[in-house]
Amino acid sequence: MLEARLTIDPAFRVAPVRRRTFGTFVEHLGRCVYTGIYEPGHPTADEDGFRADVLALTRELGATTVRYPGGNFVSGHRWEDAVGPVERRPARLDLAWHSTEPNRVGVDEFMRWCRKAGLEPMMAVNLGTRGVGEALALLEYCNHPNGTAWSDLRVANGAKRPYDVRMWCLGNEMDGPWQIGHKNAAEYGRLAAETARAMRMYDPALELVACGSSSSSMPTFGAWEATVLEHTYDLVDYISCHAYYEEKDGDLGSFLACATDMQHFIDSVTATADAVGAKLKSRKKINLSFDEWNVWYQSRFQNAPVPADWPVAPRLLEDHYHLADAVAVGSLLITLLANSDRVTAACLAQLVNVIAPIMTEPGGPAWRQTTFHPFAQAARHATGDVLRVETDSPTYDTADYGEVPLLHATATTTGDQTVVFAVNRSVDRPLSVTVDGPVTRVVDATTLTDPDVYARNSAGTPRPGPPPRPLPADGTTVTLPPVSWNVIRFA
Ligand code: AHR
Repeated sequence: MLEARLTIDPAFRVAPVRRRTFGTFVEHLGRCVYTGIYEPGHPTADEDGFRADVLALTRELGATTVRYPGGNFVSGHRWEDAVGPVERRPARLDLAWHSTEPNRVGVDEFMRWCRKAGLEPMMAVNLGTRGVGEALALLEYCNHPNGTAWSDLRVANGAKRPYDVRMWCLGNEMDGPWQIGHKNAAEYGRLAAETARAMRMYDPALELVACGSSSSSMPTFGAWEATVLEHTYDLVDYISCHAYYEEKDGDLGSFLACATDMQHFIDSVTATADAVGAKLKSRKKINLSFDEWNVWYQSRFQNAPVPADWPVAPRLLEDHYHLADAVAVGSLLITLLANSDRVTAACLAQLVNVIAPIMTEPGGPAWRQTTFHPFAQAARHATGDVLRVETDSPTYDTADYGEVPLLHATATTTGDQTVVFAVNRSVDRPLSVTVDGPVTRVVDATTLTDPDVYARNSAGTPRPGPPPRPLPADGTTVTLPPVSWNVIRFA
């Protein structure tokens, strides 16, 4: 039997658990909005056309914030098209996803949905085809009480009270050549700084996010963050990070170790931000908003043919996740939590149908993918403070990251209750883990695993789980099955 030890100590406090770590993302992409959160005529649709089954699953998922309306979509979006009487709203081409956007859902519908789902909205402004003026107009529409053209328009559209959106993304993935209105770092840095400066003239307390890199493999990674922050350091609170992972060429071992890349990403961006701060002689710290992360089989999407027509809400990016994907998602969550001192916001991309934990059928059921479970469990059980854990674990060799520990874990504590979140990356061997520290016994433990690492849930066949199964314990020792995500609660 493989054996590992994990030491925890309440003195090894990293930071409070940030509720915004459990953010998610709704983009006008594929079926995320239309037939995802919104489907008038669906048997569960409420008076606003929102699917009640999706709302219930969103609440069960435990998400806290939600980024909107994109993503790549935002860089061509005119938000004014999607407010006011629905019958007067124009349909537009969405160049980012080769679709037609009917504008049936816009900022007012989205805010209503957020209220129903109990989510904090996080808005992105278009810095691709638009600029400072349009961002200010949207801010005024959303946050000003009344008595101005934009705020009175919101009131006339049915929202008497302002939405008071606190967190704003200054564009999306502006480093990517695929982005409409893509810019180099200096061009984007200037525009982001001017937008931030103007938005702060309205409300200095807004929380603003500058675009970082779209992935750590971008050729401009590092240099992009440095230049953008040189322009924006005093004007923003966050720099964003985006990362997607997939199993490539059947290399499950490397895939299960993908959190190694996320950790490297976080370390590199933190170091870059701090270096810019040092150069500027600033005491301020820039935090990280990991506002797009997930497993995404991007290679399948890149090889898909571009359709000849411009469909409304086509099936796009509908990845069907298996057990190993859920374990990878769990490992990425462990990394986000473990870095809660600097990663203070994050968004699982996305929420419904598009690389999502929740799937729907038009007119049919909504159901949980495998990846739903680690997110829901972490959102529910990670409370209090995050603790730094010391692990002593056997390792394995990976093609992508070299030698990697089989055990990947973090812990949170409220004082009364300590919870360990742990992944066994071994593809074929159980791992016995003994926890040392001020804990006396396991209160309960669950595992998400399956003899078939490629087992999937579907609308009709819910496996593996739900819910994750109980895991037996002996004192403070538990045996983690191969390829498993585990939540262990201690007294
Ligand atoms: O989440 C899907 C897409 O991934 C987003 O639109 C974009 O920001 C990223 O490249």
